[in-house]
This record gives sequence, C-alpha cells and structure tokens, in this order.
Amino acid sequence: METMNVQKKSLEFDPNLYRQDFPILNTIVHGKPLVYFDNAATTQKPRMVIEQIVDYYQGMNANVHRAIHYLGEKATVAFEEARKKVAKFINAPSARQIVFTRGTTEAINLVATAWGEKFIGQDDEIILTEMEHHSNLIPWQLLAQKVGAKLRFIPFTPNGALDFEAFEKILNNKTRLISLTYMSNVFGTINPIKRIVRMAKDRGIPVLLDGAQSVPHLPTDVQQLDCDFLAFSGHKMLGPTGIGVLYAKMHHWENMNPYQGGGEMIQSVWLDRATWNEIPYKFEAGTPNIAGAIALGAAIDYLSKIGMEKITLFEQELTTYALNKLADLKGIVIYGNAAERGGVISFNLGDVHPHDLSHFLDQQGIAVRAGHHCAQPIMRKLDIAATTRASFYFYNTFEEIDYFVEQLKEAIEFFTP
Ligand code: ALA
Repeated sequence: METMNVQKKSLEFDPNLYRQDFPILNTIVHGKPLVYFDNAATTQKPRMVIEQIVDYYQGMNANVHRAIHYLGEKATVAFEEARKKVAKFINAPSARQIVFTRGTTEAINLVATAWGEKFIGQDDEIILTEMEHHSNLIPWQLLAQKVGAKLRFIPFTPNGALDFEAFEKILNNKTRLISLTYMSNVFGTINPIKRIVRMAKDRGIPVLLDGAQSVPHLPTDVQQLDCDFLAFSGHKMLGPTGIGVLYAKMHHWENMNPYQGGGEMIQSVWLDRATWNEIPYKFEAGTPNIAGAIALGAAIDYLSKIGMEKITLFEQELTTYALNKLADLKGIVIYGNAAERGGVISFNLGDVHPHDLSHFLDQQGIAVRAGHHCAQPIMRKLDIAATTRASFYFYNTFEEIDYFVEQLKEAIEFFTP
C-alpha cells in the first residue's frame, strides 16, 4: 500500500500542544521514551484533572447532599456542576438524566437489573452483537437466565462490520431491547447507530449504546442519536477510574426500579418499607465517587476546549497513517476494516504470540494491549487466541507511529527463526 501520500503532519492539529499537559507522557520506560498506545484500555490524565482531585480533597472534602455546612455545600455544588457538564457534553435534555456510576460496566448492569428485570420476561428477546465487550454481554446473560429471556446476536462480517441482512431477520415482535457497542474495542468499527435506532424505533424497541469507546473520541448528541440509554466511563476520556455515566430518556428513569438500596436513594424509611428519592438520586445509593465526578468534569472541560470534532478528525488521520504503514509489514493480519472506524487497530504478526510481541514492544517503551480484549466471543469466531492492539488518542503523534512500525519490523526479525 502507498504510504508516501499520507500527510505526515496534520494541518489542523498539533498533539504536542497538549502533550505537555500530561506529566506521565514524559516517562522513560526501559531507557526509552514512553509511547502510550493503550488508550482503549484507559487514557492518561492531564495535569488539570489530577489537580482537580487534589483540590477536592484539600479544599472541599465533605459528603454531598447531606451536610448543611460550608464544605458540604461546596462539595455538593461542585458535584452537581459536574453532572451538568456531563449532560451538556452529550447534549442530554436535562442533568437529571445523568446518573453517576462506577463505569460503563456498572451502568449496563444498572439497566439490566433496574429496567430489564421489570420489562423483560419469559421468552422475550434481547438483541446484542457478536462484537460486544463482556460488559455488554454478561449482564444480559445473567438477566436472560433469571427471567427466561433469549439473547440474539447480530453477526459481524469478515471486515468487522455488522451484518444488516442478518439483523433484519432476527428483529421480531419478541425483541424488547437492542444493546450494542457504538465503537468496537477490538475492530475499531464505528457502528451505524442512527440506522439501527431508526430500525428499532419503527418497531418501538429501545436501544442501549455502550459508549465506552465512542464518547471519548466522537462528538456525542443523545438527542440526535435518539438512543434510550448511553453508558460510558470516565477513565477512557481523561478522567479518573471508578466514575462513569448512565444517561437514559426520562420516561425510562421514571419507570425503573431502584438499582441498589441504601443511603441517598430514599425519601422516607420505615422498618418495613421505604419511598424513593427523586431522580437521579434514586439511582445513586451510598456515598458517590465525588472526587471522581468532579475530576470527570475537569476532563470534559479539557476535551471541550480542544473540540471533539477536531479530536475525531485528528485521530482519523493518525489511524489512516498507521493502517497504511502497517499494511506493508510482512505477515501482518489486521482484524477489522470497516468503512467507518476509530483509532483502534487489532492485529497479529505471523505466528508471534501477542504476549511475546507486547513484551518485545514494552522493552522498546511502547505500551499496547495483548489478549482477548474482554471480547472472547470475537476471538472464538476469528479462531484466534488473542491479538495485539494499538489504540490512539489525540496526544499521540505520527512520529510515535513511525517508531512503532520500526519496532514491529525489528520484532519480525527477532522472532523469525
Ligand atoms: N475495555 C477496555 C479495553 O478494551 C479495558 O481494553
């Protein structure tokens, strides 16, 4: 494949302007500068986010919605500000539709339990895809076992896209929910969500989007998408671990059972019964991750200042550049080649085991992920044990990709008997 034509430098975007905000990017790994290509697993954090966590514990640590004192008030205001920032970031009609969770996984479990157990029953069907992360598979397996429902799967084609012909065939009047990933953490495929939502709406079926890989990289507008639920994680978009978000349309929040019981989610409690707090607090039992939510707000400020459109475009340039260069490598197999894709590239290099390759790359300072990527059914269908995966963010550079490809060439030499 021709690589010379590919623009080496983006005309619009200079990642070096942002790299200086990320102290960890200066790390020296085994004597080499760190090249961090494991962003689909978690992203690095800019100084503003790290400082926000310190500021919270140094200047406003108190429990939220409980205390009538200075610090309690300050923490509550900052926590609710963060909720508003999240709502604005995804264009939710109201901040009340934003519930903080531990992450995408907990958000999906919340829907499977609080909504699923109420609205899905014996012989009902839930449609997922064959390319789901375990976090959008196991909660539905558990629900299906509990209520006697059936899981159906939209298959993926050899290029890692969804097979719409097969989708049409499994949609039927027993379908109660379609839950799918917006962007695959293995193939990088960006699924045609609007088309899927249209097909679902025609039949009155709600749609849940696993936005763990999409929200950090694409502009997100839940009103335009018209999805019923959207789950995503803070740590994949510059925020801390242990904080995530579930957005739902208001009528779903109004109709859902509580997810967990405890403090905060109640209004009045007797020994034998209780009434529930208003939305969203009904779904936030216990002391929330206050520092995490506020720091996620700082991450959103950072991303918004750059602009999500710019981030998407730059990552597309990086990915095209990387794909073109990788295609020249001897023995490489790249999994996923959908027309619409993000900056996630899974591959194998001849017979080299991904763990060995990832260890080799680590010795050169390059962090990639090797394994099944929490998507074992994809590996089974492809009949492979694992892949090596490089995943990019806006602070990665073309030079890092050049170095990565050079090191892969070294690896081919090294592992060839
Ligand atoms: N979901 C994360 C990944 O794909 C952990 O790496």
